[in-house]
Amino acid sequence: MTYEHDFLVIGSGIAGLVYALQVSRMGSVAVVTKSNLYDCNTDYAQGGIAAAIDAKDSFAEHIEDTYQAGAELGKRQVISQIIESGPALINYLIELGTDFTRKDDCYDTSLENLSLTMEGGHTRRRVAYAADSTGHQIMEALIAQCIANPAIDIFEYRIAIDLITQHHVVQDDGFIPGISCWGAYVLDTDNNRVDIFRAKKTMMATGGASQIYVHNTNPKVATGDGMAMARLAGARLANMEFVQFHPTAFWSPDSETFLISEAVRGEGGILRLLDGYAFMEDYHPKANLAPRDVVSRAIDAELKKRGEKYCYLDATGIPADKLRRHFPYIDSKLKSKGIDFTTDPIPVAPAAHYFCGGVLSTIDGVTDIRNLFVAGEVACCGLHGANRLASNSLLEALVVAYNAANHYSNMDQVDFPIVPQWHLMDEFNENEWVVISHNREIIGTIMQGYVGIRRSRRLLKYALSRLENIYNEINNFYQHNAVRKEVVETRNMAVIAIAVIRSALSRKESRGAHFLIDHPERNDLKYKHDTII
Ligand code: SIN
Repeated sequence: MTYEHDFLVIGSGIAGLVYALQVSRMGSVAVVTKSNLYDCNTDYAQGGIAAAIDAKDSFAEHIEDTYQAGAELGKRQVISQIIESGPALINYLIELGTDFTRKDDCYDTSLENLSLTMEGGHTRRRVAYAADSTGHQIMEALIAQCIANPAIDIFEYRIAIDLITQHHVVQDDGFIPGISCWGAYVLDTDNNRVDIFRAKKTMMATGGASQIYVHNTNPKVATGDGMAMARLAGARLANMEFVQFHPTAFWSPDSETFLISEAVRGEGGILRLLDGYAFMEDYHPKANLAPRDVVSRAIDAELKKRGEKYCYLDATGIPADKLRRHFPYIDSKLKSKGIDFTTDPIPVAPAAHYFCGGVLSTIDGVTDIRNLFVAGEVACCGLHGANRLASNSLLEALVVAYNAANHYSNMDQVDFPIVPQWHLMDEFNENEWVVISHNREIIGTIMQGYVGIRRSRRLLKYALSRLENIYNEINNFYQHNAVRKEVVETRNMAVIAIAVIRSALSRKESRGAHFLIDHPERNDLKYKHDTII
């Protein structure tokens, strides 16, 4: 089946839905998402969205905090433009119906009345939030707007398999130079049918890839699909070695991890070892509010030194009513584990959280591939550098998606080639399914063990050789069997894992989220530049 729209949006987080809403004024839009609309990293975002809103704050300070947190690898012009767009676009979210927490409970929804919290790496309180479910609040507003919009068609439970480019089309009518995108082949996971989604412009807003690590804070859908598809189609990826580990993921031996927002430390939470010692003073002048890479490495070092698996986040010094009011979601999750965080310390350990790198793009989401935009975690536009400042991710996704939707090229005339239907294979070898299930697990454990917070070149090389074999096995299965969601995801995970390792091997220094024990120092002379593959 072939669907035709002016705009195709792949992914339903803040970036995808903001782009969809904006371009719906110019034409028809298809939003394709792998699970249900809510199942995305935006919905998981607890802390908030950073912007210099407070009268005592300034763009200059937010810009400097961002640049320093990113270990001076971010692009100053990009940082300035994104940060300066923040307040107006937060206002846009409020107009769409996002209910941020306010200083007082009156109906005043002006920016001046937003309550602001503190997070690591920031020199001021500048994070706007909606209790501890900021992302969910934003999603509710955006989804309501999209559902009510007659120009937007929503397709849930569909995974994009491949971007439609020159690679797929027969160029009988003449050579088409460069790489262009005319939509995507999309698998309907309810019935395993592959459809063509044809569009003048495609926005890839598929989020990150932290599922390539066993311990991560992300939803199951975060398998790097967009990054992998763009790479396979010929786009460049940048800064893939900078995988950010969140310092405080809930730890328990027998359950899946979940995020304990950095805002808990922002409001006074203290990291302690199991004997109660508050160790962060030993690592950074900002102690518990140091940038995320510093805190995660400190925890990792202390745990390794002691042979322990977790430390504590002690929030008991925060008044109980304030703690419960600001963090109701965390409160209920912890209660379900038998923990009352107003009286008990929370067991935590670092977990993979966010990809600072991604598909190389401009601040307008423009990529190497004509007609293809990217925005959000899938993209690398130059904001984060080597390590993202807390709560800058929703901001980046919002600004870049908004810019992309207002980019002049959305009005381009696009000529479509004839796009052949997907070559469907009937055969599906159940017997070899183990190639997928087994390798998916192995990718997670190799990345966790060999390509984690502290890396060595020797282990990176071991990991690379194993991952290349795994990719070949998966790709072989993919080429010879009917397509399935898990196969596409596992292929994508292998592609991204290899990109992370190759990028890490090419940076022989330590900077931001990339720490190499063979080269523990930063080397500005040789490596103050992006890693591009
Ligand atoms: C958090 O609430 O700690 C996560 C926010 C972020 O990743 O920026």
